Amino acid sequence: MYRLIRPALFALDAERAHEATVGALSCVARSGPVRRWLAGRFERRDPRLEVHAFGVRFPAPVGVAAGLDKTGAALPIWGALGFGHVEIGTVTPRPQPGNPRPRVVRLPADRAVINAMGFPSEGVEAALRRFERWRDAGAWPDVPVGVNLGKNAATPFASAADDYRTVARLAAPWADWLAINVSSPNTEGLRGLQDADRLHDLVAAVVADADATPVLVKLGPDLDEEAASAAARVVEAAGAAGLIATNTTVARAGLRHDPGRPGGLSGRPLQLRARAALRTLRAATDLPIVSVGGIDGPEEALARIVAGADLLQLYTALIYDGPGLVARVHDGLIRELDRTGATSLRELRRLAPPGAVAAPRS
Ligand SMILES: Cc1cc2nc3c(=O)[nH]c(=O)nc-3n(C[C@H](O)[C@H](O)[C@H](O)COP(=O)(O)O)c2cc1C
Repeated sequence: MYRLIRPALFALDAERAHEATVGALSCVARSGPVRRWLAGRFERRDPRLEVHAFGVRFPAPVGVAAGLDKTGAALPIWGALGFGHVEIGTVTPRPQPGNPRPRVVRLPADRAVINAMGFPSEGVEAALRRFERWRDAGAWPDVPVGVNLGKNAATPFASAADDYRTVARLAAPWADWLAINVSSPNTEGLRGLQDADRLHDLVAAVVADADATPVLVKLGPDLDEEAASAAARVVEAAGAAGLIATNTTVARAGLRHDPGRPGGLSGRPLQLRARAALRTLRAATDLPIVSVGGIDGPEEALARIVAGADLLQLYTALIYDGPGLVARVHDGLIRELDRTGATSLRELRRLAPPGAVAAPRS
């Protein structure tokens, strides 16, 4: 089905195609019968796929990465499409337009995207009003919902923590977790917040304001091993409940076609970096890790689980493969659970040889 729609979407500017898709999904999301029909096709509810992390129960490991639904416009649809969670955002305290367009480009030869969006956001209050409307319509998702926190571009670096705290305080009652985004390459100075000293104080401040909602920290793939390990240890000491790794990369290594555009690169060229970051972080901490970056099928999903990921997220591969990808990943993991006899993904980590996934049953 997606193969039929994709050429029309790819004929549009990438951000327009995204807006059209989320707009359409937002309409579809309003209908309970349609959601149930989609869930019948895409949802995989196998108790072995369940993940319990930072006090939250996830019905399946693959979730929606931040940036796909920045404001919760299609909030109820993601569970119906088979995702086991959704991270909304990045949400900033006040509305802001983000960087000038065009700011998203597809790289089909590399199955990648470069985005320089710079947190276009309606602001936290508008996002929460939308959450309220979904709840009042009886359409609040039955999968966990996270909120990814950011700072406004105009906020001076020295008061960045105030922005994160504002969004955290307001969003905490709605969120199953809050994610501190200190890794977007498109807001000047933001990644400097990954430095150990600054990161400690920022995380501790947000944890204090989060009212017991778990706080995760989203790191970038461009930290060297030492800096990533230090960040993991600092985040843990400051009371965070987990890590998300990784955001997009500013590197351009290995691209077949580099369009020479600024921004963060996502998709397949990020795969090895994200996997390496996961290994580094897993060696540095026992905190739950959400692995994201270039996951595009069951093999890569399994590789991340085996390398120590507790949960997975994806975005760019959906642009190329459509929503059926999520069920394919979950089916692949179920086959691997069958093959190994593991009763959970954690057990699979011990039993599955890295890189192996059973062939699909025909
Ligand atoms: C168009 C676009 C917008 C994004 N916006 C955000 C964002 O607002 N906040 C954030 O934390 N990550 C954002 N990301 C990064 C993704 O959440 C994810 O970390 C990254 O794309 C790697 O995963 P992928 O290779 O599966 O896309 C964005 C990615 C893309 C492609």
